[in-house]
Amino acid sequence: MIWYSHVNEDSLPEIVCSTGYNSVIAVAGSGERLIALLDNANLEQLFVVDTNMSAIELLKLKLVALSELDVEDYLRFIGAEEMSSRERMRCFIKLQNKLESSTIIYWSKNHHFIKKGILYIGQYEQFLSKARPLLKWFLGPSFMKVFNNDYNSFSKFRWKIVKSVFSKKVSYLLLGNKDPAFIGKGVDTSLITNGFQELIDKKEFHKSFMAHLVFLGSLKQMDIEFLPASQNRKILKKIQAKLKNREIKIQFINNDALSFLEDNTSTTFNFNVFLSMSDILSFHKTDYVIKCIKALKVSNKCKCAFVFRSYLRNHIDTDIIKKITALGYKIKDVSNMESTKMYKVHLVEKL
Ligand SMILES: C[S@@+](CC[C@H](N)C(=O)[O-])C[C@H]1O[C@@H](n2cnc3c(N)ncnc32)[C@H](O)[C@@H]1O
Repeated sequence: MIWYSHVNEDSLPEIVCSTGYNSVIAVAGSGERLIALLDNANLEQLFVVDTNMSAIELLKLKLVALSELDVEDYLRFIGAEEMSSRERMRCFIKLQNKLESSTIIYWSKNHHFIKKGILYIGQYEQFLSKARPLLKWFLGPSFMKVFNNDYNSFSKFRWKIVKSVFSKKVSYLLLGNKDPAFIGKGVDTSLITNGFQELIDKKEFHKSFMAHLVFLGSLKQMDIEFLPASQNRKILKKIQAKLKNREIKIQFINNDALSFLEDNTSTTFNFNVFLSMSDILSFHKTDYVIKCIKALKVSNKCKCAFVFRSYLRNHIDTDIIKKITALGYKIKDVSNMESTKMYKVHLVEKL
């Protein structure tokens, strides 16, 4: 099961905070954040970690497609732009001699996903495809005018009802969302609707990839200047060149991120290490942060930093901040760099 396949985090905090680091350890998820992180002149080494092998196979396919197809065809192949299912299969066949055998086996069993476009195959994207027609029908065409920067025409009453319905966990359950990040214990789904409200209040809805994805189903109508890095043609061309020249050594690890750090305690990292932990706190309690910091062993000469996100639960509180500080790290809330307004993002740096 693939949980996420499209870009669903604004990677700007990770992009900014990881410049200057030559080694990155990152949780795969949809793979879109990792692709964005490849646009780093100092990056030499990337460790991709995920407990879910399917997420790793998704990223492997995206990376081979990006290095072998031209950028326009890459975007069409993954589904960011139009391509017929037959043409997608032709691309996949063309890519096969560059794919690892595990990746060929995985995707050979999932041709229907290739045909659909691999951006739209995650559980989250499938949930959105069920919720979207309801949202569109109820909010009506006047709501969609916000994407043309018209924030006056839509019915505030209808929007209030949508907000009320989607701030309740049961709505996600009823629409078949099985992801613990949305329906698990302690989840506060009003953070999603409040995030969208903030985007409306600040008149930033039309600039938000999250709003485009949720309400329109794709980023095809977005202004280029607001596109996430992993969908931006200019950035993708730079990343493609790095992939073709094999400038970055990429290793895939099908394991728990904490276990990976614990297993590598003897081989202390001799590089400046940046850890992009994504919203791992959707799946683990906050003490996971402390365990990861304790498990990471870097040489004294080297810098290291983590970016931890939380989404709808398990937010970093003052108690955890005290514990992080006691371990010789400083912590900074960088959530204001995140355009979706839904994630809490913390930068944790070794002093
Ligand atoms: C942390 S989120 C990433 C989602 C994110 N919004 C994205 O698409 O980039 C979900 C991913 O984390 C993985 N995951 C959850 N707990 C993990 C852990 N302890 N170690 C490694 N991967 C983990 C899941 O398998 C899933 O692929």
